[in-house]
Amino acid sequence: MATNGKLRYTTPGIETAEAERIVALLQDRLNATTDLHLTLKHVHWNVVGPHFISVHEMIDPQVDAVRGFSDAIAERIATLGGSPIGTPGALVEQRSWDEYSIGRATTQEHLGALDLVYQGVITSYRDAIQELDDLDLVTQDLLISHTDALELFHWFIRAHLEDKGGNLSTTGATTEGEAAAAAQQDASEAK
Ligand SMILES: [Fe+2]
Repeated sequence: MATNGKLRYTTPGIETAEAERIVALLQDRLNATTDLHLTLKHVHWNVVGPHFISVHEMIDPQVDAVRGFSDAIAERIATLGGSPIGTPGALVEQRSWDEYSIGRATTQEHLGALDLVYQGVITSYRDAIQELDDLDLVTQDLLISHTDALELFHWFIRAHLEDKGGNLSTTGATTEGEAAAAAQQDASEAK
């Protein structure tokens, strides 16, 4: 398996051992954002139904932004003296989450599943931000800026899943399949 390797140097004011932990946290964020922008593109290509064009077009700016996050994270790893790993095999080997499970499906089904995807990504971002509190505030600042945008994108998704009372159709769903089914059922009943 490719690794980030031992650091020969790092930025001033950080101990090498701490920098290695920061690089490990960043590699996990690189895997998460690379997975997310590829998954979002997959959704962009596979949504169908009456709301196709609005969802198809809503997704692309998210793809571009998240791709930019991957780039910033990888360059932060290099800045810290590490080697970012950007190949797909290493991503699949290292990731702790499952492959996105929905193929061609309605916009509501994909949006329901994406609610779960964003929940996972944002929660893991917040865990990393918490750990970086004692390690490196500069890297923490980078991840905070990403989380700000990810939470905005999550709202864009959730606004499609919300009723007038503010209830989300995906509440209680624990898998992408459950969330997709709940979102679809809610949309069918609303007709
Ligand atoms: Fe496209």
